Amino acid sequence: MKKQLLDIFKGFSKLSREERLKALMDVGVLHDSDVEYLSKGGLRDTSLGEKFIENVIGYFQLPLGVATNFNIDGKDYVIPMAVEETSIVAAVCKSAKWIRETGSITTEVVGNDIIGQIQCAKIQDFAKFEKQILSQKNFLIEISNREVAFGLVRRGGGVRDIQVRRVPRGDGTDMAVVHVLMDPCDAMGANIMNQVCEFLKEPIEQFTGEKVTMCILSNLVDSKVTRAIVHIKDIDPELAEKIEEASLFAQQDPYRAATNNKGVLNGIDPVLIATGNDWRAVEAGIHAYASRDGQYRSITRWFRDGEGGLKGIFEAPLIVGTVGGVTTLHPTAMMCMKMLGTTSANELSRVIAAVGLVQNLGALKALTTVGIIEGHMKLHTKNLALGAGAEEKEIPLVQKKLEEILAVRKRISLSNAIDVLKELRSSQRATTTTHTHS
Ligand code: MEV
Repeated sequence: MKKQLLDIFKGFSKLSREERLKALMDVGVLHDSDVEYLSKGGLRDTSLGEKFIENVIGYFQLPLGVATNFNIDGKDYVIPMAVEETSIVAAVCKSAKWIRETGSITTEVVGNDIIGQIQCAKIQDFAKFEKQILSQKNFLIEISNREVAFGLVRRGGGVRDIQVRRVPRGDGTDMAVVHVLMDPCDAMGANIMNQVCEFLKEPIEQFTGEKVTMCILSNLVDSKVTRAIVHIKDIDPELAEKIEEASLFAQQDPYRAATNNKGVLNGIDPVLIATGNDWRAVEAGIHAYASRDGQYRSITRWFRDGEGGLKGIFEAPLIVGTVGGVTTLHPTAMMCMKMLGTTSANELSRVIAAVGLVQNLGALKALTTVGIIEGHMKLHTKNLALGAGAEEKEIPLVQKKLEEILAVRKRISLSNAIDVLKELRSSQRATTTTHTHS
């Protein structure tokens, strides 16, 4: 019988890289060709890079790991994460395991439409402009769908609505901003939205006699938000209270909110990168949404459920695509998409929201109990050993010594690692000399 994902989650981190790849093949999320591709170091042919950007000189490679133990809406996932920061993957797997054992992750996408903006900076008469646009609304939607977004219309999407907003210029006058709302189906939709907005420039100028000054999509997509909910049914009441307090801190204090949200993005960005999605767009949307009431706040909330459990909610725009762009051109992104097994952009968005929320839970649990150093720096010892110049066989010895220093002094640094390595090498030299002379 074919192995289930759950079987490989047990002890996955203890396996060697080769064993991990084999386990992923056994459950059918990777194939021979993927393993060969990864073993050869992934994408090497720079001609693809030349198609993406200019002045290409090579590739910048990040470690690619997988998050295990995730069960989202009743479905198991192996989640690819491309990231350089130590402990992110380990922490998210640990928290996902905790939730798998004592709770659940549920998700949903609310709304369908992304937003494009057409600005008329210096409007003569806003009321007249608004009336003219709204009276032509159906026509503007119809021509956009017929002339530009026909591909989306075929797939069940397309332009759905046109709205007009009055935006103060700050000098007592106003600018007018036309919002185009469009369902991008499984595309991220940036290109097609920008094309629609630029296409509408001419008819808008003709109907209103006003000048269109610029057209671009908005990353603050409050018309389509992704929600993830973690529910831990049974939790130590003291821990639940501590996490609730940490959450309140991040809700009320923008200095803490920024760091909290960075921790959420620790989970989100690596999946966006692995799947070839535009992480800058998602980041911008999340930060803007986090400030929507005028103060920058936490993008997640944790609270006791009144029945001995803890609930966490993430809600923000998280616009991704599964067709078009890098997602379907970069071989590593394509492999990651296959491994993840999501069948729509909404499903991908829901999985990513869940990873962000679970990552946040791990950080808050560590911060309110053992502190960040224990989890973070313990794993960081390997980086310090490497930074000090340790060879492969010296790394475990340097790490062990650094862990001893950490336990006593509660901190370690690169200079500790350099000293430890020096000591290790001189004691090894001394041993060799003794052996040679005896
Ligand atoms: C570090 O990369 C992320 C944290 O600072 C997040 C947080 O403070 O919630 C640990």
